[in-house]
Amino acid sequence: MSSPRDADTDHGRITRVGVVGAGLMGAGIAEVCARAHVDVLVWESTKELAAAGRARILDSLDRGVSSGKITERERDRAALRLRFTTDLEDFEDRQLVIEAIVEDEAAKTAVFRELDQVIDDPQAVLASNTSSIPIMKLGTATTRPERVIGMHFFNPVPVLPLVELVSTLETGETVRARAEDFAQQVLGKQVVHSADRSGAVVNALLVPYLLSAIRMSESGHATPEDIDRAMVLGCAHPMGPLSLADHVGLDTVKAIADSMYAEFKEPLYSPPPLLLRMVEAGRLGKKSGHGFYRYASPRLTAGA
Ligand code: 3HC
Repeated sequence: MSSPRDADTDHGRITRVGVVGAGLMGAGIAEVCARAHVDVLVWESTKELAAAGRARILDSLDRGVSSGKITERERDRAALRLRFTTDLEDFEDRQLVIEAIVEDEAAKTAVFRELDQVIDDPQAVLASNTSSIPIMKLGTATTRPERVIGMHFFNPVPVLPLVELVSTLETGETVRARAEDFAQQVLGKQVVHSADRSGAVVNALLVPYLLSAIRMSESGHATPEDIDRAMVLGCAHPMGPLSLADHVGLDTVKAIADSMYAEFKEPLYSPPPLLLRMVEAGRLGKKSGHGFYRYASPRLTAGA
């Protein structure tokens, strides 16, 4: 007789997910998985960061209730599907792990090396939500790069419907199909595919735009407020580029720009001095309470 775990594997449908990191992106990814009836185990480096991640997810679930997106019962059931750990060894039975820690190649590589040791299942999918680090670099940190793929979500994850799937030269066809099935059929997201290039599709187009807006502000060409108003009112964007940079996190924008510049050596990806100075000053945008604008109630944030 097959166990529930065998049955999951037989049908190929993923029901047990691990999320590494409970910062802005990791919390959003964990939330959408729990809302999709998936058992979710979330890793953070300390109990304090795990508690902050849990609070962030519960806040967002409450917001879902107050805006009529989910019922109170759905919120409570989603909360019950979320567990937290500070030990990656607890990920042994996960069928899909989505890594969403800071945009730092060495840190991500270390996570993939450890996941490779902990998870034996040859069909398990090891995914990264990286914005710009080539997935092959993470795949080669493992003994089975065919299990490694990019699954890139967008912030706010519960709101934005896209997942970019980034396959490497080594990603297995089954792994790609399982990741696509999970994103579309389980999470209800829409998928676009990209080659393994820093920035995939969205950030390759978005980041030069954000950097251009920062250069425009730096040179005194226009004020931050007018740059943002121009793109909201003139192009019907939901937010202007400097608000969006604050929303993404200026440290994250810098880290993505650094990776894309390292990959393509194009000046348009080079982070401008104003961005460097703001990151050095700890002005990281919404999450630190101060970026191009000031915000109330900054949050404790670990992941990108
Ligand atoms: N959880 C659940 N629902 C949320 C939410 C959250 N965290 N945040 C917003 N919502 C819902 C609201 O309930 C509301 O729903 P409704 O329209 O049905 O009432 C809707 O989303 C809009 O929210 P608000 O009315 O509160 O606020 P705004 O209308 O100002 O929208 C925004 C806020 C959704 C952030 C919108 O401005 C937006 O989409 N901005 C662009 C964000 C963007 O471009 N993100 C991509 C960044 S790039 C990235 O993430 C990749 C990385 O690699 C850098």
